[in-house]
Amino acid sequence: MKTCGALLVLPCCCLAETQLTGDTISDNDITHQGHYGEAETRENEGDRTETAATVCNQQTCQPDIHTLLIEMSALVAEQRVELRYTKTQMDAIEARLRASEKTVEEQREQLKQLMSDNEGRKIAFAVSLEIDTNRYTGPFNTGATLVYKHVITNLGNLYNLHTGFFTAPVKGVYDFNFYVYGDGGPISIGAQLRRNRERLVTAYTGGDDHSINASNGVSLLLEVGDVVDIYLPANQRIIDNAHHHSTFRGHLLFQV
Ligand SMILES: *[C@@H]1O[C@H](CO)[C@@H](O)[C@H](O)[C@H]1NC(C)=O
Repeated sequence: MKTCGALLVLPCCCLAETQLTGDTISDNDITHQGHYGEAETRENEGDRTETAATVCNQQTCQPDIHTLLIEMSALVAEQRVELRYTKTQMDAIEARLRASEKTVEEQREQLKQLMSDNEGRKIAFAVSLEIDTNRYTGPFNTGATLVYKHVITNLGNLYNLHTGFFTAPVKGVYDFNFYVYGDGGPISIGAQLRRNRERLVTAYTGGDDHSINASNGVSLLLEVGDVVDIYLPANQRIIDNAHHHSTFRGHLLFQV
């Protein structure tokens, strides 16, 4: 690098000197000396051409070359420092770029996870006991799970129309409600909501009114595979028909 710089400067120095002092130099001379930088004395060409050679002999050029070399070295050193600084900056930029690439990748993963979670969140059902027949269910000697027959909503078929059980596909908090309807008389109406066949909440009423009803609801933390059903206790009954009075519904509130 240093040698290169010096070689480049030499002809420039001589040329500059030549142009300043030798006011009557031919194009030929300039070209000649500009190329090689070596001062050549051409005796045959007379006073006018000699000027260039004299100006650019060793005595005249040396101090300037020295100064230039020192300046060049300083410049090179300075550029080296600048280059090092630039390299440091580039490294920092590259590191930042890598970090942001990583962040983008992480966010993409999170988004994918959220989207698949959202798929899992499409959990809701609403059913009623009868499709169109007006009839009592119960009373029975022993309690029994109510198997709701009429589907209003059943995303993912998570409410089983054959067994009467809802099965949680993901861990989360679920919301359930049930509504029982009947007519007055000696037999009370009621039902219980159960998790894994364990009674949690009850709806119950009785009386002589033409139409009686009761309801209840609960928010439940369910593990994957937990089951929820509505249980008709012994000696109670409920009515349903095409108006869908006796219903059971549930949906996932949020995953945990
Ligand atoms: C539900 O029961 C209440 C009394 O507990 C009664 O006032 C109301 O009319 C009933 N509704 C229906 C639709 O039976």
